[in-house]
Amino acid sequence: MIYFDNASTGGFKPDGVVIATVAALKFCANPGRSGHKLSLACLERVYACRKQLCTFFNAYSYDRVIFTKNCTEALNIAILGVIKEGDEVVTTVAEHNSVLRPLERLKDNGITVKYAPLDGDGNIDVKALAELVTDKTRAVIMTLASNVTGAAPDVKAVRKSIPEHCLLICDGAQACGHIKIDMKSLKIDALAVAGHKGMLGIQGSGALIFSERINPAPVLYGGTGSESHSLKMPDFYPDALESGTLSYPAVVSLGEGTLYLRQNMQKNGEKILKLTTYLCENLCKIDGLKMYSKPNPFGIVTFNLDNVQAEVASSVLSEKYGICVRGGLHCAPLMHKALNSEGLVRASVSAFNSINECDQFVRAVTEISEATADDLQQGF
Ligand code: ALA
Repeated sequence: MIYFDNASTGGFKPDGVVIATVAALKFCANPGRSGHKLSLACLERVYACRKQLCTFFNAYSYDRVIFTKNCTEALNIAILGVIKEGDEVVTTVAEHNSVLRPLERLKDNGITVKYAPLDGDGNIDVKALAELVTDKTRAVIMTLASNVTGAAPDVKAVRKSIPEHCLLICDGAQACGHIKIDMKSLKIDALAVAGHKGMLGIQGSGALIFSERINPAPVLYGGTGSESHSLKMPDFYPDALESGTLSYPAVVSLGEGTLYLRQNMQKNGEKILKLTTYLCENLCKIDGLKMYSKPNPFGIVTFNLDNVQAEVASSVLSEKYGICVRGGLHCAPLMHKALNSEGLVRASVSAFNSINECDQFVRAVTEISEATADDLQQGF
């Protein structure tokens, strides 16, 4: 099997992540709930992981690193916990539903949402975005890399072109673990992290990391192991945003992935860029194939074929060739509208894929592009 669906979930975990996660499953108490040795040891480990993430992203303070179960939860806290009635928000058409849907919900509370378009290159149009920002704009909420095409906006230019008061909230689902993200120098106020993609942790891991400029309100209420006498949530972080038992193995996996990336991210990024360059160059030679991606360090190569729908092509790739890709809308409806697409095939590679696998993929896509409708129906 060839796994080219790493933008959905990273298919390969480094040995260090697997070993640490299994150990966390074997020796697992509830961090921060009891006073016994194992619970305290787990709590210490969770704090060590917070510090690792804080250092990795050059964030503001480790108590403002909140563990979540995924990037969607992190974005929900950053959006629903921060944006208030009457606020104005600027976002972009490149966003995933994990940004678009919480914002849609907030429109019921009198929040205005504006959408920055794409430029001629298929990237977020920074100038147009800046023009949408007004004195009333509370936040710009944008992805650091499109999950559909792998296009990445110039965040530095965005920050420069919006006023100081305006919060910058970033969806790092596809970018974290692939490129260096320095929160302080980019002046990112909140970064939502997926643990199970480029960060190489397991599913169920994620984080929200934020600056002192924002104080997100809880979106989930419950036990925190602190101030248990009170019927109100603690007003300090991380407790205010971490009610309920944390997934200790997931947190450990994310911390361990971070350690691995400190040594290997640059080398892996170069390999991914090489693989996406190879795929883009070779897929482009196929008649009837339209390419939507450029070489990128996020591993995303997206295209369609004029003889077959994306979902059908993806299922033939799986059934006949044993190649896993994602076809369809990728939970980013406005991006597809902007690209004039009703669905695309997305191959997403990691540093653990090879040129040989890319060759097999290009051959498979070539054969599918030459197939007739009857061939495709019969699974040729
Ligand atoms: N958001 C993930 C993707 O793009 C699941 O596939």
